[in-house]
Amino acid sequence: MKRIQIINGPNLNLLGKREPEIYGSQSFEQWLEGCPTLFPGVELHYFQSNVEGELINKIHEAGFGWDGIILNAGAYTHTSIAIGDAIKGIETPVVEVHISNVYSREEFRQKSHISSSAKGVIIGLGLKGYELAIRYLSGL
Ligand code: DQA
Repeated sequence: MKRIQIINGPNLNLLGKREPEIYGSQSFEQWLEGCPTLFPGVELHYFQSNVEGELINKIHEAGFGWDGIILNAGAYTHTSIAIGDAIKGIETPVVEVHISNVYSREEFRQKSHISSSAKGVIIGLGLKGYELAIRYLSGL
């Protein structure tokens, strides 16, 4: 059984309600419900927080001995040196995911403190991006 931690950052608890023209109309919980059928061999853990330090604590917790971390740090992606440093300090491979295509949006979204230490980055494919990340990290 592969063990993968999904970590979503600020405002992603509002998925489904928040700017649906950008982020879609499905909540993350609705999307998660489909995962056991899609990925029966994967133990998926989900954590969301609007608090930077809580995201860092979760990155540390899953940072050693897990098969992967899928991280969408929301706006902290563009501002948080501390989250970037947390990724540098762990062993578990991280796939950075963004639901929207940040490169087609405001310029400040084009800077990531995570990408340089991530194994890979999936951008702009909606919630499908998380599925692709699970496939990659679990070797499916
Ligand atoms: C996001 C993109 C970020 O720029 C934004 O602040 C988010 C969501 C995305 O998934 O597209 O909160 O990470």
